Amino acid sequence: MSRTAIIERFRADEWPSYRNLRLRALTESPDAFGSTLAQELPRSDEEWEQRLLSGIGSATDLPLVARLGTAPVGLAWCRLQHAEHGTASLYQVWIAPEHRGCGIGRCLIETSVDWARMKGAQQLALSVTCGDTPARRVYEQLGFIPAGQPQPLRPGSDLMEQPMMLSLI
Ligand SMILES: CC(C)(COP(=O)(O)OP(=O)(O)OC[C@H]1O[C@@H](n2cnc3c(N)ncnc32)[C@H](O)[C@@H]1OP(=O)(O)O)[C@@H](O)C(=O)NCCC(=O)NCCS
Repeated sequence: MSRTAIIERFRADEWPSYRNLRLRALTESPDAFGSTLAQELPRSDEEWEQRLLSGIGSATDLPLVARLGTAPVGLAWCRLQHAEHGTASLYQVWIAPEHRGCGIGRCLIETSVDWARMKGAQQLALSVTCGDTPARRVYEQLGFIPAGQPQPLRPGSDLMEQPMMLSLI
């Protein structure tokens, strides 16, 4: 099987894939995200569909899927922030464990970087759980640097997340 991943915007009818990837990410990597499986599992199909449609129909959102052949194996969501002029943010980055280490995560992030730059953003922001993790390493390799003090991953959590920023200019 070819290991070359295709990175593209989710299609509107792919909300079940989006839901399945997101729930698998929250199950497999609960410490990597501010949101939790307990928060997202109860969402109805209509909510998942609307959530994806709102991103697909927006010029300020880029919901991305990574595919190997026809199989969805990862996701990311990039968004231009209206409140902070010139800043885009990256969320929900996750690759299925059986397909990690093949460059797919880097590809997803680079696609988001290219889109944010094309949209005129001057910087791309994200937060990553503190520690020596593959996520932290891939962001550093791509030029992200710490931006500000670590914050709790979620209210009441002992886990901390580090805000990071990549200059796009
Ligand atoms: C972070 C993540 C998206 C990386 O995806 P991936 O497809 O495995 O990453 P890549 O294959 O593109 O690797 C890119 C770089 O990441 C680092 N990396 C990836 N997997 C690694 C591993 N198992 N051990 C050490 N470094 C690793 C390496 O620096 C690698 O660079 P290299 O190819 O020059 O060695 C993936 O590990 C993941 O989904 N983790 C769980 C969820 C998560 O942490 N998401 C981030 C939320 S902020």
